[in-house]
Amino acid sequence: MAPGCKVAVIGSAGNVGASVVFSLVNTTYPADIMMVDVNQRLVRGQAMDLADAAWPTGHRVRTANLKEAGQADLIIITAGARQQPGELRDGLLDRNYEILHSILSGLKPVNPNAVVLMISNPVDVLTGIAQNITGLPKSQVFGSGTLLDSGRLRNYLAKLINVRQTSIHCHVLGEHGDSQFVGWSSARIGGVKLDQFPEMQTIDKAKIEHDIARTAYDIIEAKGATYYGVGVCGAILATSVLQNQHDIRSVCCHSTKWGGYVSTPAVICSRGIDRVLELDLDNEETEKMEHAVERIKGQTKRFVE
Ligand code: LAC
Repeated sequence: MAPGCKVAVIGSAGNVGASVVFSLVNTTYPADIMMVDVNQRLVRGQAMDLADAAWPTGHRVRTANLKEAGQADLIIITAGARQQPGELRDGLLDRNYEILHSILSGLKPVNPNAVVLMISNPVDVLTGIAQNITGLPKSQVFGSGTLLDSGRLRNYLAKLINVRQTSIHCHVLGEHGDSQFVGWSSARIGGVKLDQFPEMQTIDKAKIEHDIARTAYDIIEAKGATYYGVGVCGAILATSVLQNQHDIRSVCCHSTKWGGYVSTPAVICSRGIDRVLELDLDNEETEKMEHAVERIKGQTKRFVE
């Protein structure tokens, strides 16, 4: 079978990029996957190894340069400095802005129909910056945002309530960072309000929220980096784009309601964001959302006119 769409993964010699490609080659819709990295020797090895992993599904995996990557249908950016133990994602901003700026200059001229998926941290800030630098429509540039945090939350609730993660509709919102929060008021399982489950009566929601937000720090403390979880999120979002699936995921996208980039559920299709969904938030959640939007905007302002 001939591979279909072109997908470029920038920074794919690293753990996050290689995990995105590894997850992607395990999906059934064969793509032409271009792996790009400044470390050419390492990316060549990764591409050869990942091509070996791709034969059952028919993906093509190869190395490419930035210029070629700029013409892809989907450009996934994973390059960047990694968090050190105890370091906030915000601490990466100056370093990762420089890296992002140089990548986007190298990609030019960017395919005007390309969808850009940002994964590097701090993802919510870098997504807005990437949109600004590329000049692509806002709907075509989005970030992995709180999809991973929402997955972590679903893991917790699945164990607590004993239903499968994919049957739980509950989103982590705001920022893929310390100001993230759970949209408890809109959470449902099988259409039933989450709070109606007896298991919810005895839990400390604030503690769960805190533990979910701390997960990445605990993983980094133990093994130096996180990559499999976000790798799967990258492949899930890539598949939604490549197969025009119209899946609803919590991602970092531009919200007219909140007046900026923020993580909230949206419908993902081949053009990127088809629609941003506006959840009915209660007063406390609205305040938390406003706080997250202001934080993201405040940091973005340093780099965008
Ligand atoms: C995490 C990194 C991807 O939360 O930010 O695992």
